[in-house]
Amino acid sequence: MVKDSRGEKEINAMMMPDLKVGDWILYASNIAVHKVSEEDAMEILALLEPKSHIDLSLLDKEFLDILKACHTRGLERDEIIRLLKTQDPTELEALFSEANTIRQANLKDFFCIHGIVEFSSYCVRNCHYCGLRRDSGDAGRYRMSASEIVGAVEDAVNKRGYKLIVLQSGDDFYYTDDMLVDIIRMIKERCKVFIFMSVGERSLEGYKKMKAAGASGVLFRFETSSRELYNSIHPGQSYDERIAYLKGMKAMGYYVASGFLIGLPGQTLDGIADDIITMKSLGVNMVTVGPFIPSADTPLSERPAGDAMTTLKVIAIARLLMPKTKIPVTTALETIESEEGRRLGLSSGGNSLMFNLTPERYRDFYRIYPNKYHGKEEMWEKYGLFKEALSYKMLEKKMFEVFEEEGKYSGR
Ligand code: 5AD
Repeated sequence: MVKDSRGEKEINAMMMPDLKVGDWILYASNIAVHKVSEEDAMEILALLEPKSHIDLSLLDKEFLDILKACHTRGLERDEIIRLLKTQDPTELEALFSEANTIRQANLKDFFCIHGIVEFSSYCVRNCHYCGLRRDSGDAGRYRMSASEIVGAVEDAVNKRGYKLIVLQSGDDFYYTDDMLVDIIRMIKERCKVFIFMSVGERSLEGYKKMKAAGASGVLFRFETSSRELYNSIHPGQSYDERIAYLKGMKAMGYYVASGFLIGLPGQTLDGIADDIITMKSLGVNMVTVGPFIPSADTPLSERPAGDAMTTLKVIAIARLLMPKTKIPVTTALETIESEEGRRLGLSSGGNSLMFNLTPERYRDFYRIYPNKYHGKEEMWEKYGLFKEALSYKMLEKKMFEVFEEEGKYSGR
């Protein structure tokens, strides 16, 4: 019998014969998975429990009506702008708490940890914000071999319990479609894991082959929904093509992770509202948003970083609009706010984390932006990664519930 925030319930402790009264445990689907220290349990509980001490009578009626409205309908553009604009501490608390409550009602306490392997820092594009842009020169660039990539994933999955891995690189055509297909195949032969590809703009034909080889998802941001802004900071690329890629990937049955940057020069709050609306109308299955961080040796190196508060508001609003969607707290938010950014993201509607699994010797050379945050991974891995086969099944169920509803997912 365990006691949790919602009362007492019976839990199957079959997998933990040495469990004693008074132990803190993690359980999933009513099965005890492992013990945790009291300290870790307190830290996690503090995140998970929505705050309920807000005095709603203090809230502006218009603001409260918007928070209520999201339960029965989508939000209008001007309502999203109203939420984005607020600086009132009570309103902010109400927004974050509402998002956390919706997260909990829809996803329970199911937090996930995903991993990312950054396998090549070469890039043919010249995006104004990105430290990997072509014009940054070749110093310190690296490419991992197929066996290094497969090895890094095998370690993460078979030793540490990861179940969803993003393979990311610059737009690097050294890796042909066939090479990527082989890498996916080798991983799928050796590990039970979902593979998400984040390899940029290459042919949809290639994406089709990667899907057939076993890739489940793509991570592909549209970066901004302002056509003018997009075209001005992505020389040689076009906003319309970017969106066409996303639609093509979605049509192929990929699980689509997409989103935008917060704090790009020239971006307005109205523009961010449009970004949120675009993300929702594309039907993304995973939201990925993060602040812009200036990177040395780029045209935007002197610009200020995007701010954490706006990022948290976007996470919360995305949660109001997309109750069941996965929203990882991105490394960029952690980089500008450290552990606090992670904590705030998770208590403002976020429900997963993305940890860096790039081998140490390469990490410093994947410089999309400087000083990438990492820390406390072990504690989180204990909480978010269950090594048992059952947990892969659970993730599969959660992840593809949406697809099942759309009638698309055929199981993988
Ligand atoms: N700051 C924050 N995020 C960045 N990205 C690229 N450069 C930066 C930067 N300077 C993000 C882009 C890209 C993802 C892989 O990294 O949104 O899609």
